[in-house]
Amino acid sequence: MQTHEIRERFINHFTKAGHQEVPSASLILDDPNLLFVNAGMVPFKPYFLGQQNPPFPNGTATSIQKCVRTLDIEEVGITTRHNTFFQMAGNFSFGQYFKEGAITYAWALLTNPVAEGGYGLDPERLWVTVYLDDDEAADIWHEKVGIPRERIQRLGMADNYWSMGVPGPCGPCSEIYYDRGPEYGKEGGPIADDNRYLEIWNLVFMENERGEGIGKDNFEILGPLPKKNIDTGLGVERVACILQGVDNVYETDLLAPVIAVAERLSGTKYGAKQEDDIRFRVIADHCRTGMMLILDGVTPSNEGRGYILRRLLRRIIRSARLLGATGTTLEEFMNTIMDTMTPSYPEIADNRERILRVSITEEAAFLKTLESGTERFEEAAAAVKSKGSSSVSGADAFALHDTYGFPIDLTLEMAAEAGLEVDTEGFESLMAEQRARAKADNQAKKHGHADLSIYREWVDEHPTVFTGFDELSSSVKVLGLISGGQKVSEVAEGQEVEVILDASPLYAESGGQLGDRGTITRGDVVLDVNDVQKIGKKLWVHRATVTRGALGVGEEVTAQVNEQWRHAARQSHSATHLIHGALRQVLGPTAVQAGSMNQPGYLRFDFNYTEQLTPEQLKDIESITNLAVDNDWAVNTIETSLAEAKAMGAMALFGENYGDVVRVVEIGGPFSIELCGGTHVSHSSQIGPVSILGESSIGSGARRIEAYSGLDSFHYLSKERALAEGIASSLKAKTDDLPERIAALTQKLKETEKQLERMRRQQMAQQSGQIAAEAELLGGVSVVIKRLDAGANVGDLRNIANDVRGKLSGKPAVVALVSETDGKVPFVIAASKEAVEAGLSAKDLAAQFGGYIKGHGGGKPDMVQGAGSEIGGFESGAQALRAAIQNA
Ligand code: ALA
Repeated sequence: MQTHEIRERFINHFTKAGHQEVPSASLILDDPNLLFVNAGMVPFKPYFLGQQNPPFPNGTATSIQKCVRTLDIEEVGITTRHNTFFQMAGNFSFGQYFKEGAITYAWALLTNPVAEGGYGLDPERLWVTVYLDDDEAADIWHEKVGIPRERIQRLGMADNYWSMGVPGPCGPCSEIYYDRGPEYGKEGGPIADDNRYLEIWNLVFMENERGEGIGKDNFEILGPLPKKNIDTGLGVERVACILQGVDNVYETDLLAPVIAVAERLSGTKYGAKQEDDIRFRVIADHCRTGMMLILDGVTPSNEGRGYILRRLLRRIIRSARLLGATGTTLEEFMNTIMDTMTPSYPEIADNRERILRVSITEEAAFLKTLESGTERFEEAAAAVKSKGSSSVSGADAFALHDTYGFPIDLTLEMAAEAGLEVDTEGFESLMAEQRARAKADNQAKKHGHADLSIYREWVDEHPTVFTGFDELSSSVKVLGLISGGQKVSEVAEGQEVEVILDASPLYAESGGQLGDRGTITRGDVVLDVNDVQKIGKKLWVHRATVTRGALGVGEEVTAQVNEQWRHAARQSHSATHLIHGALRQVLGPTAVQAGSMNQPGYLRFDFNYTEQLTPEQLKDIESITNLAVDNDWAVNTIETSLAEAKAMGAMALFGENYGDVVRVVEIGGPFSIELCGGTHVSHSSQIGPVSILGESSIGSGARRIEAYSGLDSFHYLSKERALAEGIASSLKAKTDDLPERIAALTQKLKETEKQLERMRRQQMAQQSGQIAAEAELLGGVSVVIKRLDAGANVGDLRNIANDVRGKLSGKPAVVALVSETDGKVPFVIAASKEAVEAGLSAKDLAAQFGGYIKGHGGGKPDMVQGAGSEIGGFESGAQALRAAIQNA
């Protein structure tokens, strides 16, 4: 049974039972605890916690969620069941059916005959586990389903009590296993061997809420959730493995074609050598994960999600090379995996070109890295050996990693080939230091301090109400004050403080728009707000300085937005939307937004695109943007459902977790429709002029446009004009004539330079008569040894030497000339025919002379040219030449 069909049967089974089908959420949700979505229940978390009502008619839902788990990247291909990307099929009940419903639905789907829509698994081969004291579940399995007691096993918290690993919903669970037979391991059920008994489905009885804690079995259970819920997860790939009768997940229908391509490109056979097989599986697994991540908007970079993607892509490229592939490989791998995945994910079709572009660009960059890193590695290895040591230092391994993007396993492998070891401990500790630095930096920037638990009570119980769409000043109450990383009850003049209010008109940084500036006042008391940040999307933290008086928790205050700031921030944010619209008109829909930053008067817009924009494209984007401003379109904001918004054609940003109600900002109808929570002007003409400053690359496959808006744009243009006028006045030209005048001047300059060069040569040539006259006679040979003025290059020296030799011709003559130019010491030695016949070779003389000026030359017995580096050796060199000629 093909994977697509396994998915379909799952959804049919549950929609028939009244579950609402919910499409997979993006792999990237805006949850600071989560790099990628890693379970089917993640998008439903607020419903389990009772924070939001599930919008499903029967209170039940079913989905097949894209999941990525990258904790055990190194395990891929070694075990048979680890996929970094997998599809989790789930059914969810929010306060509706509980244990019995979940168990009987699962059993029916697994064991119903294929002809009746099930998977047709042999009931005799199914085993289950339950949590230690969960007699209720064990009884249902035995009494309602009929599984014999000996195939029901009990496990502790680490295995049979599920949570997301962080505070949130949790509960005991029951797992279903399939016995793959004695060839896969020993008997005794899942507690004896989890390779033979393959876990296929986890049923979580989500009834409690967990608190802080570490690991799978060491956390506090805070108490029951408002309702008893069901969350299940069936591993689609694992079921495919069983139903397709293959040995491991990498050989199932969606991944096997990639292995076939890898065989063809490398000329190596799959199934012949254990070590090669692992590489084949790494390629198959990683190229699917990489493709799905790019699809959801991730681009390769050196941190966070982008780094994981980079690592995956680089592991593919290296594995293919180690298998014997010589050329580039990613394009073929990606094309293959896109073909197999498109039937389940039709959106791949629209993104094919972009996915290929990102992959190919990353491959080219990595191949370059490999080249330069290999050179650096060889230097390091040579240095180690010359010191008589056998270990590459942690610092070298770290530099290779940090500067050349060289993965440590590559360094290890190359070291082994060179008969060396690597100080991995030293490397790890440098990496740990770097990580700690980066983490502290990030946290401190966003929240003032790294520990977020201080905000917990307000996040949960007093999310901030934002009043700033409608008013710029609100009467609000101080709920909390944090100073020096501690909660305090009062702050005094001069103190820096974080203020938590029950409501605020100040915008908190999000969606690329910076936080508002403003004030918090109470009578004479004044706090200046320098920044506003959000914690967990719900709590506004106002970072402020107390400029006058003192403030205490519980007091009523006025929070006021700085109107000028907000005015310019609005202009900038709306300008960003217009530039986005213009960009897509000019570059087409593959130019996907990757991020933006809006501050009053200035904006940055980042997007995925691999080529540099031409000046014409930039000019077009700028003029389309300004036309849109001039159209004076109304800026409409609409609150609606996500589905409605998408139907309107709104562009959703990757990485956003949109709630039930989304906000759509529409400017000029189809020109710009975006999901956006930011503040905007009410008519496009209020943006004022928009000037694009330029465009640049910000890493592989990503580019950035920078622009000014509003008054800042005017100031910028006016400065440019002043500059042009300044130049025009010093050239005594009109500004309109500047391009022509400057072109003419440049041309004139070039001609003058050429003429100067001609004159210099003539002058040099004129010297030759005089130089020939200075010849001395040594042992019957006319000899000129002379240091010329600095600036003469080797060509000049050759011309003069030729001339002088000509003037001295007819008898043995040697001419040696030296000069100094560009930090070098060029020299020429010429010998006449008669001198060569008498045994005076310019080559021999040059070999001797070169030593004195630290250089060497090459040529023929009658003419040698070269360069040295030490003019100080000239006199001694000249003496040596004279002696050599005299004694010849
Ligand atoms: N949320 C459960 C899991 O991920 C189903 O295993």
